[in-house]
Amino acid sequence: MTHTHTYDALVIGAGGAGLMAAIYLSRNPSMKTAVISKLYPTRSHTGAAQGGIGAALGNLEEDSPEWHAFDTVKGSDYLGDQDAIDVMCNEAVDVIIELEHMGLPFSRTPDGRIAQRPFGGHSHHFGQGPVRRSCYAADRTGHMILQTLYQNCIKNDVDFFNEFQVVDMLMEDRRCCGVVAYHVDSGDLHIFRSKAVLWATGGFGRVWSITSNAVAGTGDGAAITFRRGIPLEDMEFYQFHPTGIYKLGILITEGVRGEGGVLRNDNGERFMERYAPTMKDLASRDVVSRAIYQEMIEGRGIGGRRFVYLDATHLGAEVVEKKLPDITDFCRTYLGVDPVKQPIPIQPTAHYAMGGIPTDINGQVVLDENGTLLPGCYAAGEAACVSVHGANRLGTNSLLDLVVFGKRAGLAMAEYCATADIPELPSDPTGPIAAELERLLAQTTGEPAAKIREEMQNTMMDFVGVYREQAGIQKAVDKVRELQDRYRTLVIMDKGKRFNLDLLEAWELGNLLELAEVTAVSALARTESRGAHSREDFPDRDDANWLKHTFAYRREGGRIELRYKPVTITRFQPKERVY
Ligand code: FUM
Repeated sequence: MTHTHTYDALVIGAGGAGLMAAIYLSRNPSMKTAVISKLYPTRSHTGAAQGGIGAALGNLEEDSPEWHAFDTVKGSDYLGDQDAIDVMCNEAVDVIIELEHMGLPFSRTPDGRIAQRPFGGHSHHFGQGPVRRSCYAADRTGHMILQTLYQNCIKNDVDFFNEFQVVDMLMEDRRCCGVVAYHVDSGDLHIFRSKAVLWATGGFGRVWSITSNAVAGTGDGAAITFRRGIPLEDMEFYQFHPTGIYKLGILITEGVRGEGGVLRNDNGERFMERYAPTMKDLASRDVVSRAIYQEMIEGRGIGGRRFVYLDATHLGAEVVEKKLPDITDFCRTYLGVDPVKQPIPIQPTAHYAMGGIPTDINGQVVLDENGTLLPGCYAAGEAACVSVHGANRLGTNSLLDLVVFGKRAGLAMAEYCATADIPELPSDPTGPIAAELERLLAQTTGEPAAKIREEMQNTMMDFVGVYREQAGIQKAVDKVRELQDRYRTLVIMDKGKRFNLDLLEAWELGNLLELAEVTAVSALARTESRGAHSREDFPDRDDANWLKHTFAYRREGGRIELRYKPVTITRFQPKERVY
């Protein structure tokens, strides 16, 4: 059975970017706004962000948005667009105060101001040493942001369609005119017709076997829009967070190092002093993740194994338990390790997509490397690429990106919807996706989705991880394409309509395979090392040939075409990065 709903504005995804946009849309009571989420909103992955949100408040020492912008550009390995970075860093201070006024319970300094801690890559006076810039709520900052924004959406009477999986985007006359969603409870398809759609569907860390991402991190929005002809930007740049719990990947916040925790190898050495003499354990994430790998490759992992220690034992119970309560719980629960008394075994974990759906600084989706805008279509948060993170994101800048560009997208959509009409729908809106879901259900023999997923995750971890090289990436491209073929004949055991998670997980796997292929193809082409894209066969950054963004397009017959776009450079000329 198919149902139809009509709205002015639709927000797909109920994480920080989506909810911030919804708050701004719903400030006008005549603007009919709905949020569609595959989860209950407060289970969105924004809730997993721990250590803080960056803003040069200068509450504990001198700071400035200009230093923040410099650090972000340098952290991005000069691939971030500097006009967009300026917007984000300049608007950061006001947006933090706005969150505070919405009720966000930040941790406090003794005199009552918002508390701030150091974080990787954030410095004072253009790289002179660490600065306290991360505004935090213990190690539950994302959780607090999510709860605060959700409560404000409820206050503003935003309509929520929870446990509705958006499965297709509707286009007519080169304009976005809505989406199709699968209602998890009933198995029915719903058509949502609207003037404007925001994709705020998060990242795709589930492409890799060791990840900090929730199981929902399957890149649905990026995959849907890619199939519908929208390019994906800079997909080769995928960040590995240095400190995931060994084997599990669960995030251990950089806030541990912000509070004074240090990384140690098998000799007990604080090895980051060798790799980054000024910033040490607070160098940017790409630098720290590579250093950990290097220690492991050279045999200094703990007991020769594939992990090192994150040591917070010298901080004392008061700091660890009060400022880092969640990770203390995780370590005690998942590892049986008490971080007050014992070092934490960690390894780099797939964490964050710098690339995604390309947008301008108002969240409007661009259709090509020339900046052609797609009317009615917006993206924000990890699903989008503005690009403020370039080749490597600084910690705390993802929460900032969510709220700054979620807000800007909400404002831009409200302005667009005020004059736009409700568009016509294509002739058979549910036809293509209904056929795909029926095809997935019809198969009675074949292999399960879990087997294909596991092979994809291991392949991407081995060949498109912290380090990459030509032959390995090529193996990954070939393997992912083989898995895409096998995907066409997989079998779903549950043939029912209600809560058919077997079906949805198989459909999500299709998205992951799509994004794994684009990531690997983009990585194969980029014959240099920059930020999180570290090629063993091309160890140097090559500004002469590669100071440019990748735009990947799905062409007729499934072929991926890569095109390129110049980086916007304003104040900060590319330099060698020294930490
Ligand atoms: O380490 C962390 O708390 C993660 C923060 C981030 O990815 O920005």
